[in-house]
Amino acid sequence: MTPGRYQSFESVAGDYDLTRVIPDATLTEIARILAREAHLEAGGLFLDGGVGTGRFAAPLAQAYPAQIVGTDISPAMMARISRKTAPGRIALAQADLQRLPFTDGAFAGALLVHILHLIELWPLVLTEIRRVLIPKTGVLLLGIEMGGRSALVDFYYELARTRALLPPSLGAAGIPQVLAHLSHTAQVETLETLRLAWRRVVPTARTLEALSRRTYSQMWSISDAAHQELLAETQSFAHRTFRRSEAVEVLKSRFVLYTVRWP
Ligand SMILES: C[S@@+](CC[C@H](N)C(=O)[O-])C[C@H]1O[C@@H](n2cnc3c(N)ncnc32)[C@H](O)[C@@H]1O
Repeated sequence: MTPGRYQSFESVAGDYDLTRVIPDATLTEIARILAREAHLEAGGLFLDGGVGTGRFAAPLAQAYPAQIVGTDISPAMMARISRKTAPGRIALAQADLQRLPFTDGAFAGALLVHILHLIELWPLVLTEIRRVLIPKTGVLLLGIEMGGRSALVDFYYELARTRALLPPSLGAAGIPQVLAHLSHTAQVETLETLRLAWRRVVPTARTLEALSRRTYSQMWSISDAAHQELLAETQSFAHRTFRRSEAVEVLKSRFVLYTVRWP
């Protein structure tokens, strides 16, 4: 099948990690779960599909160097990985997840986090992941960060939505749609994630800066003029709500992992 459209993060690589912060202890715990589910102690390979800046691949490579492979369409995103891990610990390949440059059955495990909403033919990605996993024993882990969104980002999106400025996702509409699709062929389980919850103190000024730089992919199709209006109204909302420019928000997040196995 001919691959469809997708949204590369090439232009926001420098800002990405500022908007997606997971505490180191939580990342270590996520890496431990990924390794356990994919039995990495047995020496198999693990693919981080849409590896981005290596948030998950880097801590995983700490314990399992030479077993971790990352792919992304954006070289600038992958270039950030060198700040988090020693050279050579993660094998990187620029590739489209709809057409992976790997042989069948090459991986013991694979990870997809915040990817499928960006790719038009997202079921094709799942077909490719299934192809490159070891038949029957290979496991796909789907991860998603929930909560943790600033009231300012919510305000901006709500305004954009009421003005019909937010297009539907290019790819999957959300995790329920992906799980429903998988339920026809795979066994899906939600992992216990009590320990994968955290709080973060975020200055409102930093959130406004991220909004002004359009760091969030849903904002990319909004015209410059409309974006400037939305931003001005969000700044005024921030002033009314928080009063002080050095105000902070406490954001509660959790990370949910699903295992997907094709019998
Ligand atoms: C929201 S980021 C998530 C990155 C990483 N998984 C994480 O959670 O930090 C989405 C990533 O998917 C990449 N991407 C988008 N379309 C892609 C495609 N067709 N093939 C490979 N990577 C793609 C983007 O360049 C970006 O780095």
